[in-house]
Amino acid sequence: MERTRALELVRENVSQENLVRHMLATEAIMKALAVRLNADPERWGLAGLVHDLDVEETTGRPEVHGRETVSRLRAAGLGDEEVLGAVASHNPANGTVIESDMGRALFAADPLTGLITAAALIHPEKKLELVKLKSLKKRYKEPAFARGARREDIATIEQLGLGLEEFLQLGLDAMQAVSGDLGL
Ligand SMILES: [Fe+2]
Repeated sequence: MERTRALELVRENVSQENLVRHMLATEAIMKALAVRLNADPERWGLAGLVHDLDVEETTGRPEVHGRETVSRLRAAGLGDEEVLGAVASHNPANGTVIESDMGRALFAADPLTGLITAAALIHPEKKLELVKLKSLKKRYKEPAFARGARREDIATIEQLGLGLEEFLQLGLDAMQAVSGDLGL
């Protein structure tokens, strides 16, 4: 099964568990977005799951981050051209441009995982189930909170016809559904 092979490849390439969890969180949100938009949850999920495969290898080389992942996926025979394109274009610094709704979804889902994870970690229990939409909306509006979760990138979800509030709720639901895998 493609998903099993993809997760193996992620684990072969990424040693830091928090990074693997970030990719699992992105997979969950991508699948939920696909369901919402009548797209293919398996392929959208695959793009999310593998999108940062090369992150440790390309540290300090943003111009190749994403491109290297595409090379590895091609070598492994994983993903179709739309998946590979979405993975490449989640990082504009490598010179690729977003060309599909899958790519648009990935670009917005990627930073949302960071915001939601940070919102869970501020609770002493560090549990996703304690995060509510209301507090997530409040945190979204605080620029100093989880600064790396770029709000302007999250907001691009509007290109796919989702409102920000709907996207925050969708992301929260999706991550809560796999909270065990995320360790949260
Ligand atoms: Fe990412």
